[in-house]
Amino acid sequence: MERFIATQLAEGPMPVREAGSYVLEAGGKRLRPAILLVVSRLLGYRGEHDVRYGAIVEMIHTATLVHDDIIDRATVRRGRVTANHRWGNQLTVLLGDWLYIRAIELALEVAEVPAMQALSRATSQMTEGEILGLALQGESRVTREQYFEITRRKTAELFSVACSLPTHFSPEYDRYRPALEEYGRNIGMCFQIVDDILDITGSQQSLGKPVFSDLREGKLTLPFILLLPHLNATERRNVEETLASGELRGTSPEQLRDLLERHGAVDESREAANEFARLAVAALADLPHGPELDALAVAPRFVIDRDY
Ligand code: IPE
Ligand code: IPE
Ligand code: MG
Ligand code: MG
Repeated sequence: MERFIATQLAEGPMPVREAGSYVLEAGGKRLRPAILLVVSRLLGYRGEHDVRYGAIVEMIHTATLVHDDIIDRATVRRGRVTANHRWGNQLTVLLGDWLYIRAIELALEVAEVPAMQALSRATSQMTEGEILGLALQGESRVTREQYFEITRRKTAELFSVACSLPTHFSPEYDRYRPALEEYGRNIGMCFQIVDDILDITGSQQSLGKPVFSDLREGKLTLPFILLLPHLNATERRNVEETLASGELRGTSPEQLRDLLERHGAVDESREAANEFARLAVAALADLPHGPELDALAVAPRFVIDRDY
């Protein structure tokens, strides 16, 4: 799959080739294609489409990351200066566009319309998730329901499609599609909640991206949604001013971390992530047994225990 992606990039126009390799070669967990390839084996698929679709999913994911970093004005990702910081927004918008369209072309080359539909649906959901998130930027009255809705769209649907795409490779796999979609959606919800927790508890060293950036980016994540009702007027105002201004006001990461821990907001968020992990594992009940299923069953643990 890595070679497949490298070949696509090599065929791109020069600035895209350079910036695209820079972003993709920086690493990244490759979690979505890894799960896709495991599912493909689980189903007993023997052809070559799984590698192609793994690459497609990773290219779409990477496109959203480079666009997300423009939106969030992020400067570091995957341990490197972001593409937008290095080449500017103009080229980086086009890099994201190119990755999206090239991914769609790769799917069209094998012309599996239902798989294409699933992919484009997930991609439009993701864009809508980012749009909903943007509409609530700086807003402190975000509800848990709004947060879950944004998270489902911006992250969970792509996981869902990554897990279920291999069921399009043969009609005999159709019956497994709902379970795999459900598994993917729940692991995706879990994944984003953990990403939002790591923004508070993690380190830039291990994550490869700065910590404590969500609040500064005007994004109220689950831990903060759970924290707000516990705060006194001053503490609440500090959070609101930080959300609105883009810099920490009247508080520090240490103080905020302390409040979040003390009021149980981090633990409660972890509990929410655990619940989605449980739902993901439960969705696997009727899938074929074997080492691949065992791997899928431990993936949510990896998502929860990771520190990067
Ligand atoms: C980051 O995704 C964006 C989120 C959905 C939180 P990943 O954490 O999978 O990013 P990489 O690919 O490993 O860099
Ligand atoms: C994830 O949101 C972005 C998408 C799923 C499109 P974040 O803004 O939390 O991702 P990071 O933290 O920048 O990786
Ligand atoms: Mg971001
Ligand atoms: Mg994040």
